[in-house]
Amino acid sequence: MKTIDLPRCGLTAAYDEAGTGLPVVLLHGFPFDRGMWEPQLAPLAAAGFRVLAPDFPGMGRTAAGTEPFAIDGAGDFVAAVLDALGVARAVVGGLSMGGYAAMAFARRHPARLAGLILADTKAAPDDEAGRATRDRLIATAKAEGPGAIADEMLPKLMGEKARKTNPAAVRLAETVARRQTVDGIVGALAALRDRPDAAPGLPKVAVPTLVLVGEYDEVTPPLAAARLGALVAGSEVVHIPGAGHLSNVENPDAFNAAVVGWLKQLKP
Ligand code: MLT
Repeated sequence: MKTIDLPRCGLTAAYDEAGTGLPVVLLHGFPFDRGMWEPQLAPLAAAGFRVLAPDFPGMGRTAAGTEPFAIDGAGDFVAAVLDALGVARAVVGGLSMGGYAAMAFARRHPARLAGLILADTKAAPDDEAGRATRDRLIATAKAEGPGAIADEMLPKLMGEKARKTNPAAVRLAETVARRQTVDGIVGALAALRDRPDAAPGLPKVAVPTLVLVGEYDEVTPPLAAARLGALVAGSEVVHIPGAGHLSNVENPDAFNAAVVGWLKQLKP
């Protein structure tokens, strides 16, 4: 893990870095941190890319910033990380909540985007029932702690195949989910609840875009990925076989092959 000061955000960001070459930022989902990208770091670095995986404010080892965490703010946080590292343009990718942040980055910092990877995510904001669920989970996190959130969410996030046959994937997801703080979880849930509709911004995306989705993702299913693909001209949609929502953890070989193959086409 490395750290870098972001005075503009009033915080020090924690991030993992591996490799050299075209920078590829990977943004984690909820209730996780940068540790969920562990299966991607070495393979993407070995393929000739510089992987940067930060913890969002309040999650993992990045402390909360001066502003409450929000999805648009998460896009600006990524720009601040790139500024601090002296990176002008990067491929930005994210899974689920990380995808919402990647779409925010694309809306707010389009000139800095070299490519977009949207994994197991969707354009639509929360509906009324979804917002009520966030409020219930906020109350649960406050009353019972982060373990209760992991207990409720992990069975929905991981596909049945990984839960039954892939102990390494289960262990990684459990470890990362259970090390979050109550404040971080509450902040992220509020940001998810209040996030904007990403659909209007997507037709303006003018860089190559890869949409990935676990074949059995029940949280942001293949239909949501198809909608993303339809909104971004020229995008490619790839299904990750046998995986649920945590496609990068559940089937890293297929996920990494899809990402590396696509990234290599971007190279001059
Ligand atoms: C995630 O995986 O980041 C969350 O499931 C996103 C969400 O609940 O909308």
